[in-house]
Amino acid sequence: MTATDVDATADDDYDPFEAFNKSTGAGIVENPYPDFVALRRDTPVAELDLREMFGLADDEAPEHAVWTVNTFEAVQAVLRDGDGFSSKGYEEIMGAVFGHSILEMDEPEHHTYRGLIQQAFTRKAMERWETDVIGPAVHALIDDFIEDGRADLVSQLTFPFPFEVIADQLVLPEDDKPRFHRMATELISVQVDMDRALRASADLHAYFSDVIAQRRAVPAQDLISVLAQAELDGQQLTDDEIIAFLRLLLSAGAETTYRSSSNLLYGLLTHPEQLAAVRDDRSLLPQAIEEALRWEPPLLTIMRTAAQDVALGGKELHPGDTVVINIGAANHDETRWDDPETFDIFRPQVPHIAFASGVHMCLGIHLARMETMVAVNAILDRLPDLGLDPDAEAPYITGMVFRAPPALPVVFG
Ligand code: HEM
Repeated sequence: MTATDVDATADDDYDPFEAFNKSTGAGIVENPYPDFVALRRDTPVAELDLREMFGLADDEAPEHAVWTVNTFEAVQAVLRDGDGFSSKGYEEIMGAVFGHSILEMDEPEHHTYRGLIQQAFTRKAMERWETDVIGPAVHALIDDFIEDGRADLVSQLTFPFPFEVIADQLVLPEDDKPRFHRMATELISVQVDMDRALRASADLHAYFSDVIAQRRAVPAQDLISVLAQAELDGQQLTDDEIIAFLRLLLSAGAETTYRSSSNLLYGLLTHPEQLAAVRDDRSLLPQAIEEALRWEPPLLTIMRTAAQDVALGGKELHPGDTVVINIGAANHDETRWDDPETFDIFRPQVPHIAFASGVHMCLGIHLARMETMVAVNAILDRLPDLGLDPDAEAPYITGMVFRAPPALPVVFG
């Protein structure tokens, strides 16, 4: 299959953003945070009763237990214990969609692979992306609605923005971008439509294979060329390894960043005094970004599997047990933050755990922060008197695994 054949699989009345927005829970307001208070207090490490949850008979006991980990201390302990807890559990679902990606690797494979990928995320590359890719992408999106005096900041800015950034980091041809956006959105809609996500995964494989072949033949400065040339201890990335990473980037990189920048804008727009403070003093923006990541992390839970007998929070976990790591509950731990449910950019800065911890700690931390910084600065520079649209439905954040507002209707002067 060639890059141009890929679109032949598309049906025209399907809107990937609409379908995706369904998976964000548009119309249903979900707030898990009140339940986390009791979890932290009573069961920092809790075993789920799978028999009761799934109505199983006594003799249908699942082979392995499933645990949730709910305090900052316990979450950090799991993430920092690479021997006790494996990432291989991601293979089953994520592996089918992304391929064998860094997310599901344990040491020492993970270390080598990360060392290769990191070569594409140097300080120099970041500086080039900031001026050549990220700035132009956000300004082009704002150009499209600035004359209207109103916009939905999610569908018109925060959602397309990080996908646009990745397309430009890969230097994809302008004509391929609509098809790329469509495949990317379908891939991350895996929660609502697994079949479509698997099709998009295969289409992306075909598409990226062609691009990698071109870049191996004529290398340039783009992300794919750099990944194709990266070398560590005589080892290089195969096409499939590069493709697994590029697919993961659409979820781990773009989906998280779209959600985190939307959550920050939601926090500021619903707290106009804090919005005004940031507008007037941009040196407050970094702490506003961190507070939004703490208050509403885009990704609430991640997973590990116990690899050996481990004692945690007074409980005994056994090899094969699944561990649901509750980042959301950890980020609202009242032993670390006073009044944790409140969005307050002026609170004392204490590190949160939205980017995880340990060897799998997010590879895109600096990129995510920089993208958000550039986007919010552009919004504040170009949209005077920005505020929520009084004639539109009040926005809300929703989702039990991924969280973000489905829409952010705003008006500006
Ligand atoms: C605010 C935005 C982001 C958040 C909250 C976030 C969060 C996370 C978290 C929690 C993990 C750990 C997953 C696990 O171990 O199970 C992770 C890993 C990762 N993130 Fe991010 N991420 C963000 C943005 C990005 C961006 C922009 C990139 C682009 C490079 C990126 C690339 C990755 C990669 C490649 C991994 C896997 C690292 C490894 O397994 O060693 N992320 N991220």
